[in-house]
Amino acid sequence: MTILALESSCDETAAAVVIDGRAALSSVVASQVEAHKLYGGVVPEIASRMHVEAISGVTEEALQQANLALQDIDAVAVTHAPGLVGALLVGINFAKGLAYAAGKPLVAVHHLRSHVAANYLTHPDLVPPFLALVVSGGHTHIAQVTDYTAFRVLGRTRDDAAGEALDKTARMLGLPYPGGPHLDQLGQSGDPKAFKFPKPKLSGNPYDFSFSGLKTAALTQLNQLSIQHSAFSIEDFAASFQRAVAEYLCANTLRAAREYGHTKIVLAGGVCANSVLRAEISQRCREQGLDLYLPDLRYCGDNAAMVGAQGYYEYLAGNAAGFDLNALPGLGMESVHPATKRTSWAWASM
Ligand code: KG4
Ligand code: ZN
Repeated sequence: MTILALESSCDETAAAVVIDGRAALSSVVASQVEAHKLYGGVVPEIASRMHVEAISGVTEEALQQANLALQDIDAVAVTHAPGLVGALLVGINFAKGLAYAAGKPLVAVHHLRSHVAANYLTHPDLVPPFLALVVSGGHTHIAQVTDYTAFRVLGRTRDDAAGEALDKTARMLGLPYPGGPHLDQLGQSGDPKAFKFPKPKLSGNPYDFSFSGLKTAALTQLNQLSIQHSAFSIEDFAASFQRAVAEYLCANTLRAAREYGHTKIVLAGGVCANSVLRAEISQRCREQGLDLYLPDLRYCGDNAAMVGAQGYYEYLAGNAAGFDLNALPGLGMESVHPATKRTSWAWASM
């Protein structure tokens, strides 16, 4: 089955052609990062406008690179949740137009599910069940993936996402948006033991996260250094902060793996491009005899190939959408969009 997939949930406009959920014939990503850099973060109105400008060309390029015409594809998949509502709507409406014009089914894909599915493109042998750590700019989840379309969230962040904590700390250091990749690069020549950060402690669910304490500890240390006019190595600070974040993410994930008996660990989301996190989880999984799956670096950040991968399994599960599909910016990854097979009108418009 050949799926044309679209992604526009935040600041990347992306289109891809994916075969049977496992092989990307093309994956085109137009990043808006340069436009948002000026403001230190994503400006939703600018994001929506830039998606409108880019989506047609990006889709054409994805089809061209795959050497296919619209009529050759079997379904159109699109990210419908979560994300910026205006940004999501651009992709959804464009996808509806394509599906209607071509007379093909429309498939709604949850963004976090698609981040997990990035691993199906990288690892042909990967099949559920497994435990996933999803770490992006807006979300931090530990989830059991019991089947391709069945998710159970065991823990989530109660405040900032891991990516947000990295980006905000990078900003404190004067690094450009998004700071995560800059911290990563700087930290490679730093000493990860030079600065100490507290281990976050939470009552209640042991798989939940809180990054606000780590972020405040970073700010407090930087303020003290500034008041004392002390010179310090920004590389050491970057390395130490990333180590604290990576150790925290790994500790909770591996505790959940032990508790729930998972031997397969999957990482997903933009932050899993981080070299410190990749090294830390690789070492711990090796020591504990766990099988680790990391997505190829090109599929860690937002892209449409992962949407095509998850879209395939959503389609197989009967989760095709009607043309009344809407953006649901706050929908959880466990939920099924209301505009799917569960409603009587889902297929009526096909
Ligand atoms: O998944 P993603 O591309 O977008 C969202 O769905 O949010 O994740 C973006 C996040 C940003 O916070 C960005 O700084 C972070 O992923 N990120 C990284 C790295 N590459 C991207 N963080 C640390 N190290 C990296 N190499
Ligand atoms: Zn994402």
